[in-house]
Amino acid sequence: MAKRITNQITRSALVMLTLNNQQISAFEGETLATVILLSGEPGCKLGKADNPRGPFCNMGVCYDCLVTVIDPASPDKRLKSRACMTMVKAGLRVFTTQEDSI
Ligand code: FES
Repeated sequence: MAKRITNQITRSALVMLTLNNQQISAFEGETLATVILLSGEPGCKLGKADNPRGPFCNMGVCYDCLVTVIDPASPDKRLKSRACMTMVKAGLRVFTTQEDSI
């Protein structure tokens, strides 16, 4: 299981967001991929054999980290975003593909 480095690290503000309708805390400046890895979620989307796919390249190339994001500033829009390229923001609602029933 992934863990945050805690030794000699200064973090930004702790904010709340939801991941698959579960309240979760994260630090501003982290990516949603970090949040998903730390949460223990099995993945972001399903692969060809319906196996969960998680962040792979962590640099915006593979698209294995696609999630659905609802920004509180635009609550009517559901955006497909690469979790590794999307920064944590207070109030975001994030859904992995497996939990995409919004
Ligand atoms: S992990 Fe590859 S695009 Fe996000």
